Parts: sequence; C-alpha cells; structure tokens
Amino acid sequence: MIVVGVTADYGLGSRIAEHMGAKYCRFFSKVFPDGESYLRLDENVRGEDVLLVQSMAEQQDKRFTEMLMAIDAIAEAHANNIYGLIPYMAYARQDRRFLDGEPISARSVLGALHNAGMSKLAVIEPHKEEELSYFKGKSIAIDVMKKVVRGAVEKTGAETLVAPDSGVSGRVKGVAEELGVGWDYLEKKRDRNNGSLSIGKGLGDLSGKKILVVDDMISTGGTIVQASGEAMSKGAIGINAAAVHLILADGAYDRIKNAGVGNIFGSNSTGSKGCEMIDVSEDVAAALSQFLVD
Ligand code: R5P
Repeated sequence: MIVVGVTADYGLGSRIAEHMGAKYCRFFSKVFPDGESYLRLDENVRGEDVLLVQSMAEQQDKRFTEMLMAIDAIAEAHANNIYGLIPYMAYARQDRRFLDGEPISARSVLGALHNAGMSKLAVIEPHKEEELSYFKGKSIAIDVMKKVVRGAVEKTGAETLVAPDSGVSGRVKGVAEELGVGWDYLEKKRDRNNGSLSIGKGLGDLSGKKILVVDDMISTGGTIVQASGEAMSKGAIGINAAAVHLILADGAYDRIKNAGVGNIFGSNSTGSKGCEMIDVSEDVAAALSQFLVD
C-alpha cells in the first residue's frame, strides 16, 4: 500500500506510513492566481492500494475539493483500490436537519467521496460515528480521545475531567474511569438561531481541584470558556483543556487563554499553533491496519 498526503495531512500521513511499513508520498500542489488548486502526483500507483490522507481543518471547501481531485488523479493512474483517511472531517456537525430548509451537510461530503471512487473511509473522531453511514462504502471512526486525554493528564496532573456538554459526557466518563480520575459534566444549551450558549445542569463542588475540560473539538472556544468559568465558580484551581480536534477559529486561542485556561491539548489531526499537540499516529495506524485488510 502507498500512503499519499493530499495537501493538508500535518505530518500524520508519513508517521502512519512508518508505523504501517508502507511507502509515503505527497501530491505536488500549487494555487493558481485566481485561487484554484492544482495537484499532480509524481509517483507510479498503478495496481497499488492507495490511502489518501487529507484533513479538512481549515479552508474546508478547498480541502474537500482537493480530496475529490486527488481521488480522480489516483483513479486515472490505475490504482487498485482508493481508500481515505480524514483526520478532521469538516461539515460533520451538520449531521441532521436542525431547521427546515437546511441540508444534511455531512451526507453531502461523504456521498461525494464515495461517488468519486473511494471504497473505504476512515475518519478520526467524526462528530457522531453514526453519520458515517452516509458513506456508502466501508467506513470506520477512529477514537483517539483516550490517547489525547492521557497525555494531557500526565502533563497537567489533572484530577477531574469535565465534559462541557452532555453529548460528550458518556465518553469522558469512560476515559476518566479508564485513567482512574474523577469526572463531572455540565449541560450546554445552544440557541439554534444565534449560537449563544447557556448552562442547563451545572458542575458540582470542585474546590481545590485541578481539572481538564475535555471535548471532541474546539471551534470558537465558546464551549470551553463556558465550562472553565463554571469550573472556576465551583472552586477549581488549575484549568487546562483538551480536545481531539483543535480548529481554533476566529480568535479562539486568545479567548480560551483569556478565560484563564493554562494549556490546550489536542491531536495532530490539525496543525494548531501554540497548543500541545499529541501524536496519535500509532493508534490510527493500528486501527487502519485492521480495517483495510478486513
Ligand atoms: C458540539 O457539539 C461539539 O461537541 C463541541 O462542543 C463544539 O463544536 C465546540 O464548539 P465551540 O468551540 O465553537 O464552542
């Protein structure tokens, strides 16, 4: 098998290839003056199984288009099978219709990848595992939350994990139990029209505790800021944050730091600067090795 980085794999593709004992190469890419992407693969992939790696953590539409173009190029070069690994999948949060008139964007993305010629797809921590059923080939969600949280707990000495949202609370509870630390959760309410946040159920007493707020992703940072403020009001000292995907859009890094959060930990599914990135390539390679031979 050949692992091929498209335009945004943040070094994950080459590390995964190393763990899998596979060859690694990258597309040559450039951007035309009008903003369109150009791709070319200077590698013979005829008859090979090819794993394309492309994260959609920033310039989502461009990264997605480039992934479609890469599938086209690989098919044109007569590869045997075309597989995909998406370290961060954009549009995953719109996995259903919340308001009338909306698309199911996750279905648009996953449907297009399969229609373009991808037969198997692995996604690191999609928003919800069930949404991968929109991909009509074989798919797998790769869970790296424990790896990220373990790294963060070791570095910060956190004694309690805080889930900032009931949606992620079951997973945070499971990780806390495996790591032998405490946990709590709050209930986040988001206004579907203006995006504003409020708290349903708050946290219990955290007096004198070092805590780690754990989420699947950080986008604007609003969720982490809300949970950190609630934790401080319940007496927590030393607040750090961890998430699998650090998107950190729109000044999120400063927003989180200004809220009194120490370090922000995340996986290398994105390339966020100033954060503590935890390499998840070994876990991802192990999951892929099994998935791609099944
Ligand atoms: C929501 O369901 C997710 O699990 C995250 O909590 C959310 O996407 C984080 O977004 P933000 O950083 O903008 O609050």
